[in-house]
Amino acid sequence: MPVIRAINEPLCLPELFMLSRQVLRYAEDLNVVRSERDEACAALRAARFDVLLRLAAAAELKDDDTGAHLVRMGHFSAALARACGQSEEWCGRLLYASRMHDVGKIGVPDRILKKAGRLTDEEWQEMRRHPEIGAAILGGSDNPVLQMAAEVALHHHERFDGGGYPHGVAGEAIPLAARIVAVADVFDALTSDRCYRPALPVDRALGMIEHGAAEGHFDADVVAVFLRISAEVMELRAAIAAGRVEGEFRS
Ligand SMILES: [Fe+2]
Ligand SMILES: [Fe+2]
Repeated sequence: MPVIRAINEPLCLPELFMLSRQVLRYAEDLNVVRSERDEACAALRAARFDVLLRLAAAAELKDDDTGAHLVRMGHFSAALARACGQSEEWCGRLLYASRMHDVGKIGVPDRILKKAGRLTDEEWQEMRRHPEIGAAILGGSDNPVLQMAAEVALHHHERFDGGGYPHGVAGEAIPLAARIVAVADVFDALTSDRCYRPALPVDRALGMIEHGAAEGHFDADVVAVFLRISAEVMELRAAIAAGRVEGEFRS
């Protein structure tokens, strides 16, 4: 029974004892409610993250029927970030953030994404909206992986010389995560079979990446590190294909 007394009436010892027990019980109940709320919040955050990864995979399935590109370029991006001197925590974020780079393709019509021939100017305009669509899908989160993912999605088609899209930003104004992902993404695309051409040999793809740095497409410092770790990248690729990278599927 709750103790109900006028505020100015003194309490006797048994009442004080009962009151303190009630306060303790309320405190215990509050702790249970708090921990249930924290668990529910963590589960919601994990679910949101999972949904976005699946959405990224769904977007990728529009032009890659295995989703293996995302797994490979995620690992290449994380390895490149590590070799660039970033912390393990930062590399861990990039492993997942990088996979969402093309999530905005979900908003590009299939007739454009899957078009076999050259795109018209209008179709290119439409295609070039995917970074901003992606950033809109991923933005506004307090989750550091999603914050990085939004940044990568927005900037992964910017060029180091400022000639890219959507905003034409240049140099270090392009976030490092996006400069790293740009290299890992293009390298994996070049070394994978496409409906319009077979995979290029690794040496040729590395040559094209190097040429891309000289031309101002990529950050030359990032490319220099990528060339230095290219053997490690190819080992990673083989490990993913053989199912030797934990939690990943085969290409
Ligand atoms: Fe893209
Ligand atoms: Fe990609």
